[in-house]
Amino acid sequence: MSDFEHVFEAPPEGAAADWTIPQDWDAYSDVEHGTWDTLYARQMKILPGRACEVFMQGLKALDLNTGGIPDFAVMNPKLQALTGWTVVCVPGLVPDEVFFDHLANKRFPSGQFIRKPDQLDYLQEPDIFHDVFGHVPMLTDPDFAAYMEAYGKGGQRAASLGVLQNLARLYWYTVEFGLMQDADGLRIYGAGIVSSSTESVFALEDPSPNRLGFDLERVMRTLYRIDDFQQVYFVIDSIEALKAETLKDFGPVYQRLKGADDIAIEAVLPEDQVFTRGTQAYAARGGRFAA
Ligand code: PHE
Ligand code: CO
Repeated sequence: MSDFEHVFEAPPEGAAADWTIPQDWDAYSDVEHGTWDTLYARQMKILPGRACEVFMQGLKALDLNTGGIPDFAVMNPKLQALTGWTVVCVPGLVPDEVFFDHLANKRFPSGQFIRKPDQLDYLQEPDIFHDVFGHVPMLTDPDFAAYMEAYGKGGQRAASLGVLQNLARLYWYTVEFGLMQDADGLRIYGAGIVSSSTESVFALEDPSPNRLGFDLERVMRTLYRIDDFQQVYFVIDSIEALKAETLKDFGPVYQRLKGADDIAIEAVLPEDQVFTRGTQAYAARGGRFAA
């Protein structure tokens, strides 16, 4: 965790007990607003035809391209009218239980800072571009919003049962890196993908990663990497199907997972529904660290 600058053990100076801080929108510099505009424009060249319809519609509904970093005081009423959600600012990654409590109460915690101009292509920590551009459009969809709220409540339960690691994989492979089978083909809905210009192309078009049908327990057993493009993406049929699958009681699922082995990141199992059997060439040559 030492790579992260924005990680704290307790609410830092100026943060409330729930870790929120004011957005302080007036304090963003012109360079910071410019970074948002650059990233936004770049994604809009890439995402049509790649991001799912819900994402593209949500982006339009929120009107996040009015010049610079969105002002939450302007954005939140639009989001709230659609699904009851709001976005709150936090100083960086927050403890799990704080995160779950926000989600369970329809608040999405967003980083307040934006990446530096020399980090446009890659940063490991979520900044306001990742959090707002990546996550918030999907929260305009009632089914996706319900899934996120249920995830918050499910997180509190998983933490008490000691199975957070399994639930975190579900989040990773859906909310962050999910693909979906849309009416017109394979599309992106994961925030980690739509907020990255390079992974938006890689996730759909590169021959390297596996693309497999979503299966709840399979996903919850699968390891993941946080430092590079994914080696496997899981494809859902629809948001409704994801919601239906996850609203069931995970009690028996967690029981079965206790005795089950983890699944290697590049594995393709006989029972997998295979959209793409990846070559894994990208990972094999060292990923983003390749010479
Ligand atoms: N259904 C899960 C449980 O019983 C909660 C959950 C819902 C988790 C949606 C993730 C997403 O614990
Ligand atoms: Co994220």
